[in-house]
Amino acid sequence: MDDIDSLQAKIASLESELQKTKVASTQYLQNVAHQLTAPLGAIKWSIEALKDERVPISRKKTLLSSIYSQSTILVHLIKNFTLMSSLEADHELGQFREKPEPEDLKLMAINLVNDYQPQAYEKGIRINVDDNSFKRVFANNRVLIEKNLIAQALSNILENGVKYADNDTRIVVAAVRATDTVGVLVESFGIPIIDEDREKVTARGFRGKSAQQKVAAGTGFGLYLASRIMNFHKGRIELETNGKTSRFCLMFPEQVLVRAK
Ligand SMILES: Nc1ncnc2c1ncn2[C@@H]1O[C@H](COP(=O)(O)OP(=O)(O)OP(=O)(O)O)[C@@H](O)[C@H]1O
Ligand SMILES: [Mg+2]
Repeated sequence: MDDIDSLQAKIASLESELQKTKVASTQYLQNVAHQLTAPLGAIKWSIEALKDERVPISRKKTLLSSIYSQSTILVHLIKNFTLMSSLEADHELGQFREKPEPEDLKLMAINLVNDYQPQAYEKGIRINVDDNSFKRVFANNRVLIEKNLIAQALSNILENGVKYADNDTRIVVAAVRATDTVGVLVESFGIPIIDEDREKVTARGFRGKSAQQKVAAGTGFGLYLASRIMNFHKGRIELETNGKTSRFCLMFPEQVLVRAK
């Protein structure tokens, strides 16, 4: 009798778990659809305006730049969603895992920053890559990492920087060294991260209140993915805040350093 009772309780708990998963995945899909609609809509709108002969050529240049930055957002979103579904499916990054190769972190940072430059420009934000810090920390060394994953992690923190920073501010991307660790940081000046949220920012699905007010669309997966990716590399995300200044660091154990050939 006891066995039947305990089996029934188990079935009931499994049923409720299944129900929760169903709700979560429906919400997830709705969120994805919603987030993809905005950049696609903006691209379509810009193309319409490009076709219009009355629109002056100077304006058309701005439209092309906007199409570029919206496409960057799209590619970024799709990569995150694919990573996310892969994580959900098997708790690993399956086909995304690749062999770690020696990479040039500065070059990666510069390429990503270039991708976000048009978006930043629209808000009067300047993104600077601190060349000297990379020379100091990495010299001629490369880092042994899974390139596509780390690029996505860095892209997620850069995207947040541009998204949550105030207009007409500066974002700094720099290399950092601490005891036994090396890494790269993104510093931005905008909505403050309240003490209560500090520990939560990398939780799956977490979004700050002010962040939601400033940018309605978002899934709260960006930092969760970035922190999972850092875990694969035996590293982690560190956050330092000082009022409106937020500094997100992707830190690796210094064993990732390898001499460049
Ligand atoms: N540079 C930043 N400045 C201020 N707050 C930030 C910054 N980066 C992250 N946050 C806070 O951390 C939260 C979680 O960030 P995360 O990237 O995981 O999600 P999101 O940006 O809200 O959504 P998504 O990345 O899916 O678009 C944000 O909602 C925001 O409250
Ligand atoms: Mg984000």
